[in-house]
Amino acid sequence: MSITLIYPTPDAGWAGQRLEGVLNHTLAGQEVRAIRTAKKLVSLKGQRLLFALALGDTGTNLEYIRMLAQLRKEPKLLEGCTAGIIVDGAGELYTKSAAAELALALNRAGCALVGRPLVEATGSLANFDVQAKNLGADRMGAYRHAARELAERVETFSLPQKERPQLLVLHASSHHTSNTMDLWSKVRERVEGRCTIHEIGLRNGTLCDCSGCPYTMCLHFGEQGGCFYGGVMQDEVYPAVRTADALVLLCPNYNDALSANLTACINRLTALFRLTRFYDKAVFAIVVSGYSGGDVVARQVISAMNMNKSFYLPQNFALIETANAPREALALPGVEDRLEAFSQRILDTLCR
Ligand SMILES: Cc1cc2nc3c(=O)[nH]c(=O)nc-3n(C[C@H](O)[C@H](O)[C@H](O)COP(=O)(O)O)c2cc1C
Repeated sequence: MSITLIYPTPDAGWAGQRLEGVLNHTLAGQEVRAIRTAKKLVSLKGQRLLFALALGDTGTNLEYIRMLAQLRKEPKLLEGCTAGIIVDGAGELYTKSAAAELALALNRAGCALVGRPLVEATGSLANFDVQAKNLGADRMGAYRHAARELAERVETFSLPQKERPQLLVLHASSHHTSNTMDLWSKVRERVEGRCTIHEIGLRNGTLCDCSGCPYTMCLHFGEQGGCFYGGVMQDEVYPAVRTADALVLLCPNYNDALSANLTACINRLTALFRLTRFYDKAVFAIVVSGYSGGDVVARQVISAMNMNKSFYLPQNFALIETANAPREALALPGVEDRLEAFSQRILDTLCR
């Protein structure tokens, strides 16, 4: 397999030379097709992509913005592609937010992302300090190493498929009034014939947020299959995550973010993450906002679950709807078609 490099030409005055050097090292000896302008961003179905984005000190790149528009305009532009992302910034800010925005746009254009798909380089490269120490390298060495490792995974990874995959559904909503739960119940009807489904409710009071134990303490509890706080996470969620092939997160928009209970649950996955990576598990989401902001919540899921916690992000991973009054979601124009497409995507991604 080969790699297609999407590498928007940096703005004049910001040469992006550091990224150029890393790409030369990462892709040395490979046949690479490079796309530098939005005009050339066409017919990429089924390819393995490395998206390399150089940001100037204002955190922008004008050719990239043209590409972003193109990705958002054409929902099938990257159908069946799998990608990784390198973002190289001139300053200490904007690299992560630019990456999350790009990841959502790629995903909604039909592109899957491998787990931990981002190599991020802040201006100082200080974000590589831990990796550099572990490798016995300097910051630049750690950056190159991470970029090369990402490119290899992008080229070779494919999600295992199963006869009857296990879906773990995490929610924190009331069954009786929630639009998010209504949508899930319709998805459930469509997928339960071919998947084993386990639902866990994380209602108020059942779960404490991560207490941020020191690394060695977190590792110690993690090695015993638990976490300092125990409770529903240790008894139910960790064992269920271990055996699940995919998670479905039910995400009502609360103040343009995931609910506190779901956020606490993701934070508490850290103890499990210390010991195991989740590359072979997929994450899906149903996101419902009363008024607006579904993209912000979907981005938070990508940042937390795919970029940080290493879950695989299948193409079009989220069903994103806007509905406020009880029962409104199931009456939205076109919702049946979107429910059908989302359910089919779960089956196509996970089932043999
Ligand atoms: C605490 C809270 C905060 C909310 N914040 C927002 C918000 O920032 N933006 C928005 O569009 N809707 C917001 N909503 C509305 C929900 O997203 C809306 O009710 C939607 O239908 C999903 O929730 P449900 O599954 O409980 O029905 C909020 C609701 C609650 C209870």
